[in-house]
Order: sequence, then structure tokens, then C-alpha cells
Amino acid sequence: MSIRLLPEALVNQIAAGEVIERPAAVVKELVENAIDASAGQISVILRDGGKALIAVEDDGVGMTAEELKLAVQRHATSKLPDDDLVHIQSLGFRGEALPSIGAVARLTLTSRGQSAEDAWSLSVEGGVLGSLKPAARPKGSKIEVRDLFFATPARLKFLKSARSEVMQIRDSLQRLAMAYPTISFQLADDQRTLVKLGAESGDLFDARLARLGAVMGRDFAESALAIEAEREGFRLTGYAGLPTLNRANAQQQYLFINGRPVKDRLLLGALRGAYQDFLARDRHPVVALFLEAPAEAVDVNVHPAKAEVRFREPGLVRGLIVSALRHALAEAGHRASPSVSQAALGAFRPAVSPSAGGSVTPFPGYHGGQPRIGRGMAEAAMAYHAPLPGLSAAPAKRNEPDAQEECAEEEAALQSYPLGAACAQLHETYVVAQTADGLVIVDQHAAHERLVYERMKRQIAEHGVERQSLLIPEVVELEEDSANRLLARREELAELGLVIEPFGGVSVVVRETPSLLGQTNVQGLLRDLADELVELDQALALKERLEEICGTIACHGSVRSGRRLTQAEMNALLREMEATPHSGQCNHGRPTYIALQLSDIERLFGRR
Ligand SMILES: Nc1ncnc2c1ncn2[C@@H]1O[C@H](COP(=O)(O)OP(=O)(O)O)[C@@H](O)[C@H]1O
Ligand SMILES: [Mg+2]
Repeated sequence: MSIRLLPEALVNQIAAGEVIERPAAVVKELVENAIDASAGQISVILRDGGKALIAVEDDGVGMTAEELKLAVQRHATSKLPDDDLVHIQSLGFRGEALPSIGAVARLTLTSRGQSAEDAWSLSVEGGVLGSLKPAARPKGSKIEVRDLFFATPARLKFLKSARSEVMQIRDSLQRLAMAYPTISFQLADDQRTLVKLGAESGDLFDARLARLGAVMGRDFAESALAIEAEREGFRLTGYAGLPTLNRANAQQQYLFINGRPVKDRLLLGALRGAYQDFLARDRHPVVALFLEAPAEAVDVNVHPAKAEVRFREPGLVRGLIVSALRHALAEAGHRASPSVSQAALGAFRPAVSPSAGGSVTPFPGYHGGQPRIGRGMAEAAMAYHAPLPGLSAAPAKRNEPDAQEECAEEEAALQSYPLGAACAQLHETYVVAQTADGLVIVDQHAAHERLVYERMKRQIAEHGVERQSLLIPEVVELEEDSANRLLARREELAELGLVIEPFGGVSVVVRETPSLLGQTNVQGLLRDLADELVELDQALALKERLEEICGTIACHGSVRSGRRLTQAEMNALLREMEATPHSGQCNHGRPTYIALQLSDIERLFGRR
């Protein structure tokens, strides 16, 4: 066998293997090109999930005949004027997308340069370049991609159903649209319009807020916390959903670095870290976060589809994200997502007999109509920052017979607390309380679980982790790498209650474990830890685990549903909830209480 240079067409097919893995990637590349061309309007049309046709049209700067010829050549780009790979201002920079698409599909570019009189069109089919033809079109470009992967049948087989490709395409387009709110976007397939987003105006902040609302919908708008934080030239802005608004997958986590949508593992990990206290492992928060990073601090040229980046100081970025989110969540205090009580309200259906006449359309504010994004988010953010009234007041008095006269007075005083005065316990599970302007229903088990958990965490923070010696030290055999990794972190592990020592080449002996763990599977713990240490933020792994264990213990040590509480106990529970951070949801992201406003109740009864 002799070494040879591969022909250009084959090189492009190979490149396409990385850059263009499915229709959504084509859409992403073409829409990015339109954005880079300063388009104000971008429209995408699909046939058969993008397999038969993807057409992207823009009103951007366009290309002249000469530029068209260059555009389809490998490594030809207008985006690196100074050969500077550090200060990249555009989404594209490798000059790879168009030649790659041309190598595996039938590609036609039709474009008119900004000040050009006439338009031209050029095709590349399976790597074979056609000739320039005169065409007619207004300013801007139209890029059509037909029969994707016709030239690479093996790849064709991996495509999913049109439906699932369309979902991916829609997701890619929406991610870009969130980062560029002043551009209008449209996506349509054979049957219908799938995305239609008008250009938003105002300053970037307002425009973005409006665009996020249009894409992410009302639930998010109403339970999102505004995030704004800065550290050493990095700036994080955007919105983070309350933990009670959680999802079964991470699909609704929209992350952007310098205007580029990413699915970066570091950022996703930081997000998980920030929410870990509030959500079960298999639940995911909903966020839209925009990180602005100094060009020198981040390398965007590390992933074929630029979906991941590399940071010079990953710890700094992680720290910024985790602390900004935790801070916001802590400020949100004991509040649960408003959508929870609205969902509850939605479930109440007034029993109206037909004879009562007329149809009942409850809560026009909550159902149908436009998402109330602009107002909702700003309002929500404001409300969360407002201090809670009356938190410093003395604990509730006992409701004894001789105190009956003070009772009414006391009731009134209690009602001024955010969570009000306990009135009753229902089904031995729910505490109902009356507040100044409505009522509150508390899930006593969920609430207590949260309180116990927070108490345990405080203990750990104050007194450190208590350790227990093992009667018989346990020897754990590991792979050499794993053993080394654990031993390298011996001191930190000891601080967290786990004392280990080397024991021959591939083994480790465990002498003490955190008391909190009780009788634990030491082998499993060490293996898991060694695995977790491979990932970032090594020292955190054991701590996270401890906190998770706290959660489990808290769950078992809590007032179970089914226990009858006295009035005093109920009020004490309410007061402690008010004073405890994060008490609006249990450790699993379920709300601990819901609040109904009097006005909502009045609406239920048609009084409003
Ligand atoms: N929609 C468009 N409008 C104007 N110019 C475009 C458009 N699409 C592509 N181009 C030109 O073609 C070049 C090559 O595009 P591409 O292969 O995607 O590489 P890159 O975006 O990395 O430069 C771009 O640098 C740009 O000059
Ligand atoms: Mg490009």
C-alpha cells in the first residue's frame, strides 16, 4: 500500500461526516451563514423532514459571482480577515459547511451581492461543480439542499423519520433564534408553519426577553428567575426556572457562549451542580443562560459542530454559574413556581349545571391567549427579591382553652405571615392555612423533608463531617488509575469523612467513613467516587454524594403524611418554612405548598 493524497471530493465527504451528520446540522450551518451575512429575515422550508429539500433564504449581504465560486471551495471563508482564530466574531470560520454539503447532496446557491445589479446561481452535486448561471432574485441569498446524502447512501440509512428530523431542526433553529432576537425566523414544512418568530425590538435585554417568551412559553416566563452575574471578565445573564418547573430530560436547557448555542458538558455539569439540592437526579431544570466570555479565555475551535468549547479556566466558569444560580434560587426562598398553583387552579372546575346558562371560561388570564411573558418574568424576578414581611416575629402561642379570647387577635396576627395561620389538617397530610389575601395548602411531608435536609446541611457546614472508624478496615481493589486518582485526593476525602490509605499497587484500604452514611457499601462508594473523579470538579463529588445522602435520610426522618398535627405544630411548621431557605420545594423538586389568592378563588366562583 502506498500513501496518497485523497481527491478533493472524498476529502469533502469525510469532512461532511463530522459537520453534517443530519438535516438539522445542515439547517444550523445555513442559518448561521445567514446570520453572519447580517440578515434581518431568515426563512427555512423543508420537504420530507429535510431529506428531500432544505431551502434557506435570507436578505443578508449576499454573494457576487466570484464569491459564489469561492464559497463552495474547501477552507474558503470571508470570516477570518486577519487570520485570527482567537477573536472570532462570527458563527462560522472554517469555510467547511458549503463544500461538505455539496459533497453529499445537490446544493444550489442563488445570490445577489449587496450592491450588485444581477444575481447568479451555482450548483454542486455530489462534489461535482456546475457552472455559474444568471438568475433573478432580490438582495440576499437562497441556499437549496436537495436529496441529502444521496452521494453517501450509508449515511442515508441512519436518518430517522421525517417527524423526528423535523423536531431536531426546529430545536436547532429555535436555539439560534433565542440568541438573535432582532432577526425574524420562519420554518415551514410541506404541511404547515412550524416556527414563526417576528423580529423583536427594544434593547437587547427586552428583545431577548420577548424572544425567550415566544420560544419557551408561559410556564417558563412565569417561574423564571433573572440571572445576572459577573466575574473576571465573564458575564452570565438569562433566566433560570424555579426547580418546581422541572423536566424529565435536559432538552429545555438553552445555553449560549458568546452568542453561540452550545451543549457544553462543563456548563451542563455546572447547571446540575447548581440545582442538585433541589431536584431528584433524574429531573432537569429549565434554563436559558447566556455566557459572555473574553475571546482569549475560550476556544470555540474544538468541536466539529462547535457545540462544545474549551475554557482556559473551567473552574472559574463553573464557579460563576453555580454561585449565580444558587444565589438566585436562595433569594427565591420558600416560593414555589407560580405555575404550580395555576395548574392547581386549572384543575378546579366549577360545577355549573347546564340550566345555569352560558359556558364557563375560567381564568382568561391563565388559559389561552398570548403568553404573558414580558410582564410575568419581570414581575416574578421583582417579587422574588422582595423581603418577606414579619419574619422576625415571635413564634406562635399555644392555642390553650384559657387563651381563647386572645385567639381572634392571634389569628389575625398569624395571618400576616406569608404562609398564614394554620386552620386545619386534611387527610392527615395537608395543612390548610389562611393568609391575608388567600389560602395556602402545605404538603406536610414534603415540607418537613426539606426542613430536615436544610438542618442537616447546616450541621455539616458548621461542625464538619463526623467520621466513624470501621471495625475491620476494608480493602477495595480498583484499577490502578482509579486507585491513584482517589489517593491523590486523600486529604480532601478525609475532610469529607472518608479516610483511605494505599494498600499495594491497585488496592486502597478504607479506615473511616462519614457517620452519616451509616452502614454503607464501601466498595460501591469507592468505585463510584473513582468514576466521578474522572469528571470535573473532583472534590465536589463526595460532597454531592453526602448531600444526596442527607436528602435520603431527611426523607426517612420526616413527618410522614398520615400523622396528625396539633394547631401549634402546624403553625410551627409554617413559621419554620418561612425562615428556611429553599423551602418552596422538597429535595425532589416537588412543591411543598401551593398558594391560592382570594381573587383566584373569587374567579372560580364567578364572582369576578
Ligand atoms: N447566506 C449567505 N450570505 C452571504 N454569504 C454567504 C452565505 N452563506 C455562505 N456565504 C459565504 O460563503 C462562505 C463559506 O461558507 P461556509 O462554507 O459556511 O463557511 P464559513 O461560514 O465557515 O465561512 C462564507 O464565509 C461566506 O462568505
Ligand atoms: Mg458557515
